[in-house]
Amino acid sequence: MKKYYITTPIYYPSDKLHIGHSYTTVAADALARFKRQTGYDVMFLTGTDEHGQKIERVAKNAGMEPKEYVDGIVEGIQKLWKLMDISHDDFIRTTDERHVQTVQRIFKKLYEQGDIYKGHYEGWYCTPCEAYWLERQLADGKCPDCGRPVELAKEEAYFFKMSKYADRLIKYINEHPEFIQPESRRNEMLNNFLLPGLEDLCVSRTSFKWVIPVDFDPGHVVYVWIDALSNYISALGYLSGDDSKFKEYWPADLHLVGKEIMRFHTIIWPILLMALGLPIPKQVYGHGWLMLEGGKMSKSKGNVVDPVKLINRYGVDAVRYFLLREVPFGSDGLYSSEALLTRTNSDLANDLGNLVSRTAAMIVKYFGGVIPSEYEATEFDSDVERRGTALHAQVEKHMDELRIPEALADIWDYIGVLNKYIDLTAPWVLAKDEANKPKLAGVMVHLAEGLRIVSVLLIPFLTDTAKRIRSILGIGDEALVSWESIAEFGPKVFGLHVTQTAPLFPRIDIQKELEALEEIADNRTLQKQKKLPPKESAKNEAPEGVITYDDFKKVRLKLGLVKCAETIDGSDKLLKLQVEMGGETRQIVSGIRKWYTPEQMTGKTVVVVANLKPAKLFGVESQGMLLAAEKDGDLKLVTVDGSLPSGADIS
Ligand code: MSP
Repeated sequence: MKKYYITTPIYYPSDKLHIGHSYTTVAADALARFKRQTGYDVMFLTGTDEHGQKIERVAKNAGMEPKEYVDGIVEGIQKLWKLMDISHDDFIRTTDERHVQTVQRIFKKLYEQGDIYKGHYEGWYCTPCEAYWLERQLADGKCPDCGRPVELAKEEAYFFKMSKYADRLIKYINEHPEFIQPESRRNEMLNNFLLPGLEDLCVSRTSFKWVIPVDFDPGHVVYVWIDALSNYISALGYLSGDDSKFKEYWPADLHLVGKEIMRFHTIIWPILLMALGLPIPKQVYGHGWLMLEGGKMSKSKGNVVDPVKLINRYGVDAVRYFLLREVPFGSDGLYSSEALLTRTNSDLANDLGNLVSRTAAMIVKYFGGVIPSEYEATEFDSDVERRGTALHAQVEKHMDELRIPEALADIWDYIGVLNKYIDLTAPWVLAKDEANKPKLAGVMVHLAEGLRIVSVLLIPFLTDTAKRIRSILGIGDEALVSWESIAEFGPKVFGLHVTQTAPLFPRIDIQKELEALEEIADNRTLQKQKKLPPKESAKNEAPEGVITYDDFKKVRLKLGLVKCAETIDGSDKLLKLQVEMGGETRQIVSGIRKWYTPEQMTGKTVVVVANLKPAKLFGVESQGMLLAAEKDGDLKLVTVDGSLPSGADIS
């Protein structure tokens, strides 16, 4: 039997996974189920990434041992996957003994063969992010990721000889264009990281304890990425007493990961495997993010949407469908309550739900619930038959290309064909004349067979709905559920007993629900705004639309010189600028990318609102705002007439 090994990243044990996190896992689940359905022996792995200083600290604050702390959270994650009907075959925890042993053996093997060596590491360390930074990477002397203070740290450490393998990896990537997908990410990895040259990677620490110890050198612990990435082979028993699964399933067919961790998966991971003398995974696919209007969903921004609440309200399939259909695979997708409700109403309640209810109701009404076995053809049958039998190949092609939304669109096109077939054949008219009964029977047979095909195709995506449609159609025989059974149309449904049930997806009153969903989107920023104190007494206020001089003086405008500028990964609107204002450098995020390139911005003199409360845009801290004029889609930055030193006040 053909093997297929698919993985998700292992999740950090955060106390609340949001709907964005579930995206990777639901997408991987749909792919795993599809491969099983089409005859593969699938190994689908997910798990948790439990070590690190952050966990150590959070657990301590909670008065718990780290293991005790992560145990509780991991249980919650496992429950969430159960609720979302995730069909993983194994769940690896980096605290599992099987994982710890493999990581220690990998480390030792690489050390003994000279690919890991001892040296000293020095750099600016951000404790909350557990990351060392180079001086030039700091933003205004602070951590470029979280904006918090960093401290200079030096420690004895082990290094992994990444540089030794760089050329081999570049060659491999060039010869295997399918390895890094989508293509844009391959170019990014090559141009931004590999071609400029790789430095050796620091792979151990001495400063904290909640990590896997280096067993041959007490005091040293294995730093996070070697630990985390090795899960993909430790789960298969690599370097353990029983490596039969490793022999069976490695190399992985697909590592599905979010785009922000592509670098680790397409540079560190393949080099580690090369050093171990192991084959490279066939593909790493970097999917986009599920975004909210205000940027990426993240706990630190307080704009997370809780999948459990959505599932409890609309059912797991509505949530799975939204994630799989709405996010263009490979690009970012936008989550909004309105989009979720509109999709659920139009595609699930109207298109699919109505088709199922109408078909079942008619078979019950006109044929006592039994699908007739004798019938006559109608002039509209051929479309239903031809498109029905073509469907499995189309869906398979799209799934093989990892185009999940397109595969669903194929199925929904066919649902549209079946709905149109009801309108064209008008069974309620045929039913009026006994002489048309054979034709009426033909229509029912075509609808039931069409729906059976739909129910088989839905198995990887809408797990519960697929079952419910089969039960409504009275399908119990496994042969009618197989992939092969949808390669040709009929006559498989004759004599099945159909039952009428409640609608698959009740229609939602969107307006009412939007109000309720606002509470689900636990938007703390919004709540904070609601809690702002009432306006100051009206006596100092100017008439509406006018401000006093005192009001204006509250705004501090300064001249700034842009020292450097760069794009922000994932945002097509924003640029990140380092702006010098009289001895001080500020990081400012500005929505000007459409009009100015980073090169054009560097060296420009700009007008900055200098006393604006810092805010995070796209997860990046912005400590000010640039002034610009905008009209009819064009934008020009405000500057001064002549040259003045940066930092000059504008009044
Ligand atoms: N622990 C690392 C992975 C190590 S793999 C050897 C990690 N964990 S994570 O919990 O932060 O992220 C897990 C997955 O969730 C990643 O694929 C990440 O991209 C994904 N997502 C987190 N937020 C997301 C969105 N808002 N949208 C889509 N996926 C997102 O990274």
